[in-house]
Amino acid sequence: MVILKNELDLLGLREAARIASDALRLAAGMIKEGVSAKEIDDALRDFIFSRGGRPSFLNYEVDGKLYRYSVCVSINDEIVHGLPLRTKVLKAPMLVKIDVGVEKDGYHADTAWTFALGDVPERVRLLMRATKEALYRAISVIRPKARISDITFAIHGVARRYGFYPAETLTGHGVGLELHEEPVIPNNPNDLDQDGFIRKGMTLAIEPMINMGSEKVETLEDGWTIVTADGSWSAHYEHTLYVADGGVEILTEDIDGY
Ligand code: MF3
Ligand code: CO
Ligand code: CO
Repeated sequence: MVILKNELDLLGLREAARIASDALRLAAGMIKEGVSAKEIDDALRDFIFSRGGRPSFLNYEVDGKLYRYSVCVSINDEIVHGLPLRTKVLKAPMLVKIDVGVEKDGYHADTAWTFALGDVPERVRLLMRATKEALYRAISVIRPKARISDITFAIHGVARRYGFYPAETLTGHGVGLELHEEPVIPNNPNDLDQDGFIRKGMTLAIEPMINMGSEKVETLEDGWTIVTADGSWSAHYEHTLYVADGGVEILTEDIDGY
């Protein structure tokens, strides 16, 4: 069931989004050699609680397993749901993706950004640019009466124009009263089984995950980390937005300079 939000909900959603974006900016400042993913997780958890929020991912259940961390830290060929372990230590050159969900007063916001540590290859820079462009192209087609598949095709179109591939099976989603609500928003057209219309009052998390070499994905033995099947690197950007009459209000914020 799609949960439509009203103007009062929007106030709560903006607040959650502000905390999530501020947390992501805090993470951005920690992207340095020698820092562990656990330090990022600890810092963001403490920050989110200090702002009166709660990390949406903490103890979140996926397929009967509880996620025991506050954020996801995925590096290089890890696409999403990378675990913020003590043993995952940042070292240049590296592509670091941080994904943050925040709940405040019953409202969830979800945002992710990709950071390059050190001199990554030019083609990796291109991957970052393509994925960010896919996010904004997708946002540009969102309005009442457009279709969910318009978002999917926008992401796919940008990825393919650059010679890259939207990861299979991974999707954007409705967000707001729960971390994951309907509708499901595939990044890859192969995953489009049903379609639907975008409606005023929807709150959506749009999150292209784009791989350099192929759309194929695998899950690591930890049961969480989703990696590219071919070992190629992947980028991920995510914004939470509200669908209004005239267009969209993007609630989470760009992290500039990365
Ligand atoms: N990466 C997911 C999203 O952005 C949420 C991760 S939930 C977790 O929608 F429990 F796996 F962390
Ligand atoms: Co997210
Ligand atoms: Co999300």
